[in-house]
Amino acid sequence: MYLNFSHRLENLPPYLFIELDRLKAEAIREGRDVIDLGVGDPDLPTPQSIVQELSRQAGKKGNQHYPSNKGLPEFRQAISNWYERRFNLSLNPDTEILPLIGSKEGIAHLPLAFINPRDLVLLPDPAYPVYRSGTILAGGIPYPLPLLKENNFLPELNKIKRGIARKAKLLFLNYPNNPTAAVAPEEFLEEIVNFAKKYNIVVCYDNAYSEIAFNGYRPKSFLETKGARDVGVEFHSLSKTYNMTGWRIGWVCGQEKIIDALAKIKSNIDSGIFLAIQRAGIVALKEVEPQKIYERRKNILVEGLRKLSWNVQEPKATFYLWVHLPSGFSSSLEFSQTLLKEKNIIVSPGVGFGSSGEGYFRIALTVSEEKIKEAINRVVGMRNGT
Ligand SMILES: Cc1ncc(COP(=O)(O)O)c(C=O)c1O
Repeated sequence: MYLNFSHRLENLPPYLFIELDRLKAEAIREGRDVIDLGVGDPDLPTPQSIVQELSRQAGKKGNQHYPSNKGLPEFRQAISNWYERRFNLSLNPDTEILPLIGSKEGIAHLPLAFINPRDLVLLPDPAYPVYRSGTILAGGIPYPLPLLKENNFLPELNKIKRGIARKAKLLFLNYPNNPTAAVAPEEFLEEIVNFAKKYNIVVCYDNAYSEIAFNGYRPKSFLETKGARDVGVEFHSLSKTYNMTGWRIGWVCGQEKIIDALAKIKSNIDSGIFLAIQRAGIVALKEVEPQKIYERRKNILVEGLRKLSWNVQEPKATFYLWVHLPSGFSSSLEFSQTLLKEKNIIVSPGVGFGSSGEGYFRIALTVSEEKIKEAINRVVGMRNGT
């Protein structure tokens, strides 16, 4: 049978982590001792109080039913309380908050609510790949905004041609940023709001790493910026903050008409999050302190690589390091393959996050201090970064 796939399927870029998983599986099959600094998936277990609440709730009568599409009111209230505590912002749990089956789900579905064929979506490059794939699945055209070191990995809004800005419907942004670990200054967020208002563009701000920050730095919510609540929404996730990547729970909050539009799309696709997981999510938001483990790991890695004269920038937030390729390498893919072959270390090639990511690789701090130290020992003698 000849399968006639849709253009949208054929237009999807290959998903970076699938290829990395394949390479890793091969190395493990060969019995090699691989240190995986590739995927941003916390290594530590979910805190006990959250797991215990799930166990309590899993068999409770009533929790087996279809959950409401809008999410459990108590979970929305817990999100609202968390926002109030964390950002001093008051969000209406009925209209301004929508639970998601992981923030990835909402990010991928949101373009379906706004994009007609060939509409433009402005998105960072390099970036979390789902901004691009969600755009393509909705029939839109991704318009990449390069994130360059000389601009502190912030997009240059004044370089976007007026004709492009006029055609754009959505703008995706993510700070603290995956993969560059950059953070957004307040003036930049103000600039974003003005730009969005001028061109009538919906801002989709991804704040998945807001709780992983170092040396006293406290990332802001985009919604704290004056005017932001008129033009955008913010995605959050329990995944990284509470070691819950496999649980699939997050939320989006902000402008109520945007939230409502996404809720309408979702009501035709999914049936919400298992009630027991939402109840465990309440415990996470109410009682559990975000992970503090990454600061020490970051210090060890930055110090270790600097001793080897690698040129690494110390991140203020996220559990990533975005590092220049060592001299002698021009392809991030080639570098990652070499590192795996010769040193049994997995890192993410920068090009997997977009063409402007070429020349870099990403290290995730999601392994123990011992493994980080071992990884540093393994790269002694490699040509250093520039
Ligand atoms: C920037 C960014 N946003 C969103 C997500 C998705 O997180 P989740 O779907 O687990 O909430 C990730 C996961 O790696 C990410 O790096």
